[in-house]
Amino acid sequence: MEELTEQEMVSTCVLLLNAGHEATVNTTVNGWWTLLRHDVRPDPENLSTAVEELLRYDTPLQMFERWVLDDIEIGDVTLPRGSEVALLFGSANRDPARFGPTADVLDLGRADNPHITFGAGIHYCLGAPLARLELTAVFGELLRRAPGLRLAAEPVWKPGYVIRGFEELLVEV
Ligand code: HEM
Repeated sequence: MEELTEQEMVSTCVLLLNAGHEATVNTTVNGWWTLLRHDVRPDPENLSTAVEELLRYDTPLQMFERWVLDDIEIGDVTLPRGSEVALLFGSANRDPARFGPTADVLDLGRADNPHITFGAGIHYCLGAPLARLELTAVFGELLRRAPGLRLAAEPVWKPGYVIRGFEELLVEV
C-alpha cells in the first residue's frame, strides 16, 4: 500500500487550511453585507437558494488562472498552446447570456443558478459540499439569533482583485 510522505501530509493540511478558510470567511462576510445593503433576510429554515445566490452575487474568489495545453478556439479568439488565461469568475457569475436580464439583480429565490463560484472541471473545489454546510449553518444561526442585525459603518475593501472581501464588517445587534 502506498502511503503519503510526511511532506505530502503537511502540504495537504496547509492547502486544506488555506483553501478552506479564506473563501468561506469572505463569502460569509460579503453575503451579510449584501443582505444588509439590500435590507433583505432569507428564511433561516430554508436557505438553499439564498446560499447559492450569495455565492453567485458577490463572488469571493474573482479570478483563477489556467494554462492552455493545446491550441484552442473560443469564439473568435485562438488561444495558443502555452498561453496563460485569467478566468474571471465574478464576471461569469453576472453574465446576462447565462443569467438573463436579472444577472445583476439579487434574487434569493433564484432557481436556475449554475454559478461557477467553486470553479469547474478537474480542479472543481474539493470543499464545496463542506462550504455549503458551513454557510447554511452560519447564516441560519445568525439570522435566528440576531434578526435585527444592521450595518454600523461602511466597510473597507481589502486591496487586490483575486480575493474579494472586507478588512472588517462592523455591525450592531
Ligand atoms: C465558499 C467557500 C469556498 C469557495 C468559494 C471555494 C472556491 C474554490 C475555487 C474557485 C477553487 C478552484 C477551482 C478551479 O480551479 O476550477 C477551489 C479549489 C479548492 N478548494 Fe475551495 N472554495 C471554498 C471552500 C473550500 C473548503 C471549505 C475547502 C476544504 C476544506 C476547500 C478546498 C479546496 C481545494 C483542496 C481546492 C483545490 C482543488 C483542486 O485543485 O483539485 N475549498 N475552491
